Amino acid sequence: MNQNCQKQEWELIAPCHFGLEAVLKREIQDLDLEISRVEDGKVTFRGGGEAVAAANVFLRTTERIFLKVADLHAETFDELFEKTKALPWESFIPPNGKFWVTKANSVKSKLFSPSDIQSIMKKAIVERLKTAYGLTWFPEDGPAYPIRVSFMKDTATIGIDSSGLSLHKRGYRQMTVKAPITETLASALIMLTPWRADRILVDPFCGSGTFPIEAAMMAAGIAPGAKRDFLAEKWTNIISPSCWKQAREKAGDLVKKEIETDIQGYDIDPAALKAARANAKMAGVDHMIHFQQRDVKDLRHPKPFGFLIANPPYGERIGEMEELSGLYRTLGESFSRLDRWSMYLITSYEQAERDIGRKADKNRKVYNGMMKTYFYQFLGPKPERKTARAAMDAGRRF
Ligand SMILES: C[S@@+](CC[C@H](N)C(=O)[O-])C[C@H]1O[C@@H](n2cnc3c(N)ncnc32)[C@H](O)[C@@H]1O
Repeated sequence: MNQNCQKQEWELIAPCHFGLEAVLKREIQDLDLEISRVEDGKVTFRGGGEAVAAANVFLRTTERIFLKVADLHAETFDELFEKTKALPWESFIPPNGKFWVTKANSVKSKLFSPSDIQSIMKKAIVERLKTAYGLTWFPEDGPAYPIRVSFMKDTATIGIDSSGLSLHKRGYRQMTVKAPITETLASALIMLTPWRADRILVDPFCGSGTFPIEAAMMAAGIAPGAKRDFLAEKWTNIISPSCWKQAREKAGDLVKKEIETDIQGYDIDPAALKAARANAKMAGVDHMIHFQQRDVKDLRHPKPFGFLIANPPYGERIGEMEELSGLYRTLGESFSRLDRWSMYLITSYEQAERDIGRKADKNRKVYNGMMKTYFYQFLGPKPERKTARAAMDAGRRF
């Protein structure tokens, strides 16, 4: 651990899609960070400035990184005020810091009005900082410290958002299509599969290209946050700029220049392909992906053991329900022509397995926002060890 970078340590909270906590946990462990708790929709871990920077720059499957301030129990606004005031806000917010409770939500709790929770907490923090800094007025013209509070059964979890723009905004999505999957969800789903950079990956409904682009970035070792800024880069009172410099340097070192991949994205809509190509270029992976306009009925691939990963039209958002049945039947037929492939689909279409004509080997419920979806996994056989071994020896695994 670099002493220049590390000033103090916190509990850090990383929220994720419900159902994908295990993927995020593994990613955090891969950064050598210590997990303290895994709950529905979030993983809590420990670390200092170095961890905040690494988590923001490297984690592919979380939306934000919060510095946890406290868990507190409050059933009345008086209690909320007094307990919020008792917290050491001055150890996070400097005298010129801009602070406000940006979002409050409440589940199964006596305090439930977000606007009241927000204004009472703001007043309490002001009172605390007045005493701590001996000031009566705060200019709030310095760095921003947006606070989030989430009540569950009368316990409020309070955190400060270090990310700013949500982490799914990697900076490459310049053009979009209808119903794109978020980058964080796409990468989490890819990580749930055994796909590795030396295996074939095809998304026959690629839209703006999210699955192929996320896969290519993983294959090339490109950190999702390498090209963007984070709010906490301005928190020089608690996180040294050297933490960010180190994380960015490490991200640069990990990029693999020479990498062979077989990643393809198809879509029937030429506008989607235009977006996909522009986005891939922006992400620096256009040379690694072959995009082509193609109807799923014409899906072919000459090689065995590939991975098909997609979010086909759902019905709720695009495509008419009655057309879906035919589309999923066509997908099932195209998949059955592929030699020993695996197929992974995220969809909320309830009749997917019936129309595809095969029951999934595994099925996982995943919440895409408020929408319940299923991640259907149709597993093909594994290639012989010899094939995998040869690829590993060639150093093409990531
Ligand atoms: C839910 S969107 C996929 C979004 C994509 N994952 C993204 O992140 O932008 C479904 C896509 O399927 C495409 N599509 C619909 N029917 C198709 C067909 N018969 N063959 C190929 N693509 C089709 C649509 O044009 C749309 O882009």
